Formats: sequence, C-alpha cells, structure tokens
Amino acid sequence: MIEVILLVSSVLFIFALKLFGRPSTAHRANTFAMLAMALAVFSAFNFDFSNYDPAFYITIVVSGLLGVLISKRVQMTQMPELVGLFNGFGGGASGAIAYVELSKSTLPLSDYFVAIFSMVIGVFTFSGSIIAVLKLRGKLNNVNTTIANIFSAFLPPLILLPAIWEEMEILSLEYFMLLSLIAGIIRVAVIGGADMPVVIAFLNSLSGIAAMSAGFIVNSIILIVAGALVGASGIILTLLMCAAMNRTLLDVLKGGFGGAAINNEYDKDPISTSPEDVAIQLSYAESVVIVPGYGMAVAQAQAAVKELTNTLKDKNIEVKFAIHPVAGRMPGHMNVLLAEVDIDYEDMYTLEDINSEFSSTDVVIVLGANDVVNPLARTDENSPIYGMPILDVDLAKQVIVIKRSMSPGYAGIANPLFINDNAKMLFADAKEGLENIIKSFELV
Ligand code: TAP
Repeated sequence: MIEVILLVSSVLFIFALKLFGRPSTAHRANTFAMLAMALAVFSAFNFDFSNYDPAFYITIVVSGLLGVLISKRVQMTQMPELVGLFNGFGGGASGAIAYVELSKSTLPLSDYFVAIFSMVIGVFTFSGSIIAVLKLRGKLNNVNTTIANIFSAFLPPLILLPAIWEEMEILSLEYFMLLSLIAGIIRVAVIGGADMPVVIAFLNSLSGIAAMSAGFIVNSIILIVAGALVGASGIILTLLMCAAMNRTLLDVLKGGFGGAAINNEYDKDPISTSPEDVAIQLSYAESVVIVPGYGMAVAQAQAAVKELTNTLKDKNIEVKFAIHPVAGRMPGHMNVLLAEVDIDYEDMYTLEDINSEFSSTDVVIVLGANDVVNPLARTDENSPIYGMPILDVDLAKQVIVIKRSMSPGYAGIANPLFINDNAKMLFADAKEGLENIIKSFELV
C-alpha cells in the first residue's frame, strides 16, 4: 500500500511541475505539490504516528507552524530569500542524513561514496544558501575573488590531507564536512549580490541532488524521485536564466559581476516629461505596450498598472504587456505581480512574441525596467550585456520611461534608450508616477 501511495505522490510531483509551466494552472500545481509532499511525509512514518518520541511531534508541529507563518508573511520580492532558505535547510537535512549513515560502521562500501557525495553537496548547499540569503538581504558585501581562487588552489591538497596524515583519518568525516561548509561560504561570497537568484536556482538543483543521493543511502524511493525532480528542474531553470542574460553558469559562479558601475555617463541630457504630458500622449495612442521591470516590484506599482490599463482600455486603446524572461530579480517575477492584480494572461507577451510589434506600437511605457530594454545589448560588443536578448522598445514610435533617476540597473551600465529622440523620462517612483498619470487623465 505504501509503495502505491509513493507512486501516486511521485506522479503528483511530476504533474505539479508540468502545471507550473503556465500561470493559469500554477495554483493547481501548488495544490498537487502540497498533496504529493503530504503523502510523501506521512508514508515515511507508514501513516502510523503512535510510536514516536514526544520531541518528534513537537518538531512536526513547530516546523509546520513556522512554515505557514513565514510563507504568509513573506513579500513577493523576498521570495528568492525564502526559496534560498528552503534550499539551505533541504541541503543541510540531506547532509545530516548522510553524516549519520556514514557514522554507522554498517554502511556497505557501495553506499559509502554516495553518502560522502550527499554529505559534501548537502553541507555546501547549506552554507552557500545561507550566504546567498544574507547577500539578498544586503547584509553581506561581495568578497574579493582572490580569496576564492587561493582556496580553490589549495583545495586538492586539503582534500588529500586525511589520506596522508594518519591522525586526521579518525576525524575525516567532520573534516570533510567543515571543508564543504567553508567551500559553500567562499564560493557564494564572491558572487555579486544581483546574481543571487541564479545562484539560488543552482543551489536548489544541488539540494535536489543531495536529497536524491541521501535517498539511495536510506532506500527511500520518494526521496530519490523528488530529489531527481528538484535537481533536474533546478538546473534547467539555472541554464534558462543564464541564457536569458547571455552568460554562462561558469561566468556567474566565477563571480565579480554586477558590483560597481562600469559606465554611467551620458553625452546629452534626456528629455524629461510630466504626468500631464504623458496622459495627453497616451490619450492619442491606439496601441500601448507596458514593459515592467524591477522598479515596478520595488514600488509595488502593480495595482496602479491595473488601474491605468483599465483607464486606457475604457478609451479603446489596445494595451499589451511585454515580459522579459529575466525582468525583475526572479523567474516569473513580473508575471506573478501582474497576475496578483488580475491582468489577463492573454495580454502578457513573451519577448519572442512581442519584439516584432514594437515598430508599430504608438507608445511604450517602460516601468522601472532598465537592462532588459538596453539597446547596447544589440550594438556594443564591449558591453557586459552584449548578446543578451532584449525588448526592442527603442524601435517604437514613442517611449516613456518611468524611473526615479538616471541610475543604472543591475548590470551597472548606462542605457542610451533614455536619451533617444523618441524617448521621454518621467522621473518618479513607479507607483506615484502612474497614479499621477491616472489623475491627469481626468483633466485631459
Ligand atoms: P534593472 O535593469 O535592474 O533596472 C531596474 C530599474 O528600476 C533601475 O534602473 C531603477 O532606476 C528602477 N527603480 C528602482 N526602484 C524604482 C522605483 N521605486 N520606481 C521606479 N523605478 C525604480 O531591472 P530590469 O530591467 O528588470 O532587469 C533585470 C536585471 O536583473 C537584468 O540585468 C537581469 O539580468 C538581472 N537579473 C534578473 C534575474 C531574474 S531571474 N529576473 C536574476 C538575476 C539577475 P532608479 O533607481 O533610477 O529608479
């Protein structure tokens, strides 16, 4: 019976992953995944909770309540941090299982190396994830890459130390654990804070791999299946994010990107505009495309976006949304925020679907986006974002950029779009700017 339940749980996990692929089915995906996880957890105890230590029940209740509380309180913009913590604890748990199994002298040799692998990857994921979360919270600055390079150079002799030095042999498990812990800290510490979402997706994949190998040691089919799913989907997501930024995973892991501003100079002043002028400009348009970016998330401007969309649609103006795959700071960031205020999924277009339409669009509103609309990605071979697919908004008839200043985005580079002849800057917080445009419509 348990085997059948585990099979059902595995199938539910796979269905959930499939349903997560579309925003409209993502809610159902969450329900499926929750059900699958509940079945998996209860199966681990054979659905019999009568014979356990009181500490066991306390742990289940306290951790369950903590999970609910944290998930209820977390802001959308903090989601990568929460996922980072989940990964860290998942990796830590797998590392701990492996350590306990390794400490038993009964472990067959065939499982020994799998257990070592699980312990190393699990502990690395744990410490790396904690550092990633601290960086996302802005509590930790970038560490110089030289430290990581020195550590990497010394790693092979450090790994071999227990083999050469007899006294070390007794403590070799704890020693490898410590080494993995330090490796996780150093490797993630050198990577730029803004690259953390990619790192978190990568660590997510590693936590799955650690869980899968722990599953082999304790003979848990569901741990193997769930771990493999997390491992595979995590690495696919990581590679997709890297591709959308035109960087390799190795580049990201090497660190040293996204820190200081590389070039933030403009050779002419931008044309600035006012909410009243924008309202007039919009009321003469037939087609409007809104390009949301990180600034929309910071300003929590999604409700104002919805209101402006309704205002425009009431005037029979066509409104579409152009969503860049890495706009914001996490995959699907913009989609989630827009879905929160009931923007139609049919109005959200991917980069591939909308790029050919910009040249015939009357007005594009760039709302707190920067790098994802930077034409240098097409034109400047020396730019760090050269080759990154971007939304070609500079080809539209008119562009209105709403942001607070001329500051660069995540890549730290100037954006010539802002001084284009067809572009006007509305210097404002995204939410306030939109609200003032909506108010101005009443006067138009
Ligand atoms: P960015 O290029 O980071 O630009 C965001 C802009 O928002 C800034 O220039 C900032 O300008 C503006 N802003 C901040 N707060 C604002 C507010 N309250 N109101 C209005 N504007 C505000 O954002 P993007 O265009 O969305 O591009 C995302 C970047 O993140 C890409 O370079 C991407 O590679 C990187 N990245 C994304 C991901 C994922 S998965 N999404 C993961 C890792 C890295 P002001 O300060 O002047 O207002």
